[in-house]
Amino acid sequence: MYIKKINLKNFRNYRDLDIELCKGVNIFYGNNAQGKTNIIESVYIASTGKSHRAQKDADLIKWEYEDSKIKVDYQKEDNEKCIEVYLNRNLQKQIKLNGARLCKIGDLIGNLNTVIFSPDHMKIIKNGPVEKRRFMDIILSQVKPGYYYNLVQYLRTLKQRNNLLAEAKINSSILKTIDIWNEQLAYFGTKIITCRHEFINRICCMSEDIHKTISKEKEKLGLKYNSSIEYNINLEKKIKENFMEALKKTIKIDLKRGATHKGPHRDDILFFINGKEIKKYSSQGQQRTALLSLKISELKYIEEETGESPVLLLDDVFSELDIERQKYLVEFIRRIQTIITCTNIEHIEKFKLDGSTIYRVAEGAVEKE
Ligand SMILES: Nc1ncnc2c1ncn2[C@@H]1O[C@H](COP(=O)(O)OP(=O)(O)OP(=O)(O)O)[C@@H](O)[C@H]1O
Ligand SMILES: [Mg+2]
Repeated sequence: MYIKKINLKNFRNYRDLDIELCKGVNIFYGNNAQGKTNIIESVYIASTGKSHRAQKDADLIKWEYEDSKIKVDYQKEDNEKCIEVYLNRNLQKQIKLNGARLCKIGDLIGNLNTVIFSPDHMKIIKNGPVEKRRFMDIILSQVKPGYYYNLVQYLRTLKQRNNLLAEAKINSSILKTIDIWNEQLAYFGTKIITCRHEFINRICCMSEDIHKTISKEKEKLGLKYNSSIEYNINLEKKIKENFMEALKKTIKIDLKRGATHKGPHRDDILFFINGKEIKKYSSQGQQRTALLSLKISELKYIEEETGESPVLLLDDVFSELDIERQKYLVEFIRRIQTIITCTNIEHIEKFKLDGSTIYRVAEGAVEKE
């Protein structure tokens, strides 16, 4: 899979940008605050329907303009495809695939697959479970048909169950209906848990191997899906039963706090190096290596699942990696389409990437060199 063209109208600091990308490595360089990340962001929006950094869609529209458009032309297998995202300050976002309007973001995800990697993604390793769940959900939504739908249904049911818990404080008779919500929550939740477990098991082996190589056999990276529901391998029926049981057991505390305490919305991933939890004991460098291993595994996982390479988006990562890790990453990007941003072109030029294209970014204008 590779992107052929990007067209941005009134997007961030771009008035009207039209660029063609090469199949290999596309390097965007320039000083700070010129519009490099904005390009990565636009591709990520075409891929997932959402920005990886903006709170609101309106922030994406160029100041003093009413609307904005992102258009990405790409090749998938033998087909030419086009994604258009229309943003308007007063209207809902509109997305089109090959000219046909999509009703749901779920219909967009999985068309143009991407893996994004920036220093900000250290949050996956360092921060709390929210970032970790988002990491799993974005990948699984891209590769597993139905995952995104199940997630949306799960979160909707969760909200309804929580509303009922709140209402039950005033009117306890309403609790009679909670079984309906428990049943639905366990139904969709089980599907999410099963997918996430399988994903973590697969990615754990891949990232362990990669990390071992980068750390010159010194470190063993471990990943564990930490679920609030007991997991039984390949037994969805049993997981659902465990889920229902857990909901019954925690009903008192759920009622007291007006929130549901068990389920995949509470789950986490734990990362270990040589058996010790990374968050607590590892150095910055070890954490960066773990993230690099994880991101390369993500890429391999998507390739294995879909049979096609995703587009890799590397925002300012080279300056953060030492030469050994830079070399390791470069070996991967040689064979897939990559969009790289950097402030110092020397960081990447030294690797003499054949078939790469260099673009200079300055004040919302891009020039091919
Ligand atoms: N909605 C908007 N309208 C106009 N300009 C915007 C908007 N949002 C952000 N900008 C401008 O875009 C620029 C930031 O772009 P971007 O984040 O792509 O920078 P960058 O080149 O990646 O910089 P760095 O090297 O610091 O990461 C800033 O100058 C900012 O003022
Ligand atoms: Mg940037």
